[in-house]
Amino acid sequence: MTVIITGGAGFIGSNFIFHMLKKYPDYRIICLDKLTYAGNLSTLKSVMDNKNFRFVKADICDRETVCKLFEEERPDVVVNFAAESHVDRSIENPDVFLQTNIMGTSVLMDACRKYGITRYHQVSTDEVYGDLPLDRPDLFFTEETPIHTSSPYSASKASADLLVMAYHRTYGLSVTISRCSNNYGPYHFPEKLIPLIIANALNDKPLPVYGKGENIRDWLYVEDHCKAIDLIIHNGRVGEVYNIGGHNEMKNIDIVKLICRELNKPESLITYVADRKGHDMRYAIDPTKIHNELGWLPETKFADGIKKTIKWYLENREWWEEIISGEYRNYYERTYGNLNCYT
Ligand code: NAD
Ligand code: TYD
Repeated sequence: MTVIITGGAGFIGSNFIFHMLKKYPDYRIICLDKLTYAGNLSTLKSVMDNKNFRFVKADICDRETVCKLFEEERPDVVVNFAAESHVDRSIENPDVFLQTNIMGTSVLMDACRKYGITRYHQVSTDEVYGDLPLDRPDLFFTEETPIHTSSPYSASKASADLLVMAYHRTYGLSVTISRCSNNYGPYHFPEKLIPLIIANALNDKPLPVYGKGENIRDWLYVEDHCKAIDLIIHNGRVGEVYNIGGHNEMKNIDIVKLICRELNKPESLITYVADRKGHDMRYAIDPTKIHNELGWLPETKFADGIKKTIKWYLENREWWEEIISGEYRNYYERTYGNLNCYT
């Protein structure tokens, strides 16, 4: 079996590559990644010499290169993680989100049609459902919840999902979609809440919390997400959407305080900053379908997962320190201004 994994130099894609190479030592795994600011080749160094692994630096929007790769490799399965993934950057400049997340998805699916595949899997997000009110803890996103996006990021991911379903209906392409809640774990780019707070806390820098910190996210350890996608590409029903989430809802402020406690840092580092524009209040997934159909359940409890994650950031300082000293520093200064954490 030959699997093309796009966006595999990023957070979830790299964890998925490690999972697949370990679990299926006879599969050929090809990573196609543009290496944007969020992609990091050093993340993949432990697998670069694996004879069943190939890395190709390319843009999923580059039709010619994508087709050339399909021609050479004739993949059975394509799993598309490649995306612009940060809401705050999408608010700053939506253009590249539309290009990569929508156009890139159509280029990949055109290649799938041309060369034939057994499965195209689109890695989507719970953010396509919009948000839920804080005062209705009884409500959850199911696969039937209407698409109702808030940010240019979520709108671009929802547009891609619609295209995927259209390619299934119109061309009979064999597709599946997964919509997962917020992930955390190793190799998470330190512009996202959990790794940013860990990195700042370790450097005794202010911990920026948007608004009042009351927004709720449903956190899932990245390995559990990878296991769910593995089940979907092998056993999921074609043309179906599967929600993935672990019923682990937490307020942002509680996560930040927990990280302070784990690292023995004072809560006085917490700094409330201007709220995100259009900030979604609460995400909460109902994972009944994937549990009933594929037997998936999250295995890592948040209390254990966050400890493992913090330990990883402590033991892999060079990985994230290199990132926060590079181009990312300009973004940080634009976003957090005089918090100026990395000077
Ligand atoms: P990430 O930003 O860490 O990684 C994205 C990767 O895609 C990077 O390696 C980047 O170089 C690559 N990439 C970007 N544009 C590309 C292009 N045009 N061509 C080829 N490669 C390109 O993202 P992530 O957090 O790992 O998310 C992966 C996927 O999972 C995304 O589709 C995202 O929408 C989805 N998702 C993420 C979360 C989360 O909590 N992080 C939750 C649900 C769904
Ligand atoms: P993020 O990790 O960007 O994921 P998403 O917006 O896709 O859920 O943010 C998670 C939550 O943390 C979100 O409610 C925004 C908030 N947040 C902060 O309060 N401070 C920060 O510096 C960042 C990056 C996020």
